[in-house]
Amino acid sequence: MADTTKTATLSIDGQNYELPVLSPTAGPDVIDIRKLYGQAGVFTYDPGFTSTASTDSTITFIDGGKGELLHRGYPIDQLAGKSHYLEVCYLLLYGELPTAAQLEDFESRVTNHTMLHEQMMNFFRGFRRDAHPMAIMVGVVGAMSAFYHDSTDINDPWQREVASIRLIAKMPTIAAMAYKYHIGQPFVYPRNNLDYASNFLNMCFSVPAEDYQPSPILARAMDRIFTLHADHEQNASTSTVRLASSSGANPFACIAAGIACLWGPAHGGANQACLEMLREIGTVDRIPEYIARAKDKDDPFRLMGFGHRVYKNFDPRATVMKESADEVLDLLGVENNPVLQVAKELEAAALADPYFAEKKLFPNVDFYSGIILEAMGFPTSMFTPIFALSRTVGWISQWKEQLSDPQLKIGRPRQLYMGSTARDYIDIEDR
Ligand code: SDX
Repeated sequence: MADTTKTATLSIDGQNYELPVLSPTAGPDVIDIRKLYGQAGVFTYDPGFTSTASTDSTITFIDGGKGELLHRGYPIDQLAGKSHYLEVCYLLLYGELPTAAQLEDFESRVTNHTMLHEQMMNFFRGFRRDAHPMAIMVGVVGAMSAFYHDSTDINDPWQREVASIRLIAKMPTIAAMAYKYHIGQPFVYPRNNLDYASNFLNMCFSVPAEDYQPSPILARAMDRIFTLHADHEQNASTSTVRLASSSGANPFACIAAGIACLWGPAHGGANQACLEMLREIGTVDRIPEYIARAKDKDDPFRLMGFGHRVYKNFDPRATVMKESADEVLDLLGVENNPVLQVAKELEAAALADPYFAEKKLFPNVDFYSGIILEAMGFPTSMFTPIFALSRTVGWISQWKEQLSDPQLKIGRPRQLYMGSTARDYIDIEDR
């Protein structure tokens, strides 16, 4: 538990209130206001949660000023360089890096849960072919609670474990099926002889008419993208999963809520929006026009892939992602990709502009991921489903952590009410 030797004094109308200060293992101190309303009859006000800790957690730590991201204490650049996605999944879920035997058992359990209930194929076929793959993922993942009744009881630790493995294992299958349905090609079943990333590439890009061999370099880049998106503290979609879970909703419903939240362009939808922005800019000579628009208070345009609520320095994931972008595009012989040229020039122009420096707006994880995914052959509509696939382990880890908290209460914020005070009904003839 956090150290509570310090206190903060709040003075309201001449009355002082002593509030405990909780000191974490890393990051800023936290003022515990849980008893404030009972003692002082006041709420605190923080609409975007810019200064609010919604929970305690041991999973992920971000230092936005330093551009540091730790998963269970391990820096993201070390994990991206030395580990792989399923090992990071184990770390996030269970708190420690696995032994060889533990990793083998975990990978085997995931591999043997990759198939979907065959009847779910019919569920896909209810969508229009031009449905956005995220719409399909929200629907299909939510529908999993209608097919996997034996892992919906959140009070049963074994069912929580089975639901966790099922979701991590089946998300690539669902995302790939959403893609195949979208492009009118037949579904491709998972193959247990392929690693997690190669299996996903095979389910997306192989066709019955010919053999497909996933490139090991592209599979490694895909696995790195999964790892870089795995978890990120209490971001909007993770907070959505936690809030849904606080009501006792089943895991599939909670993850479907997280997918829905991630879809927004200010969050996980930014990778799609970023690539569409780079394509709209089109050529390097048009960059100044868009930089000016991003700085114009009267113009709602923002540089997609730039800025972050927490990082006021480089997003460490963007740094790793940029290296992967160079490797993948070099491998594919598209290092002269015009979109990548615009991205690199835009990044340089923005970082040299005092406006972005003053507001501490740096490239985030979404700035380069879209470039890699497009080069690998994915349409922009698949970028956020891939983000959702990757983030499922983070959502699940945070969901499990919350359920194991003996102090768990339903999340129920209050408000600053600015509407009408009580008034009597007016009959229509008198209005
Ligand atoms: C993700 O939370 C997470 O951890 C998320 C994520 C994860 O892994 O889960 O990291 C994934 O969502 C990354 C962010 C992806 N979104 C985008 O790239 C969309 C573009 N970025 C912006 O929408 C914005 O930067 C946010 C939403 C990411 C953060 O916004 P904040 O923290 O709420 O800050 P703000 O919108 O209040 O901006 C502060 C100032 C404003 O100017 P002023 O009103 O102070 O004059 O900076 C400006 C903004 O206008 N600003 C930008 C900008 N982002 C902020 N100006 C131009 N371009 C931008 N991208």
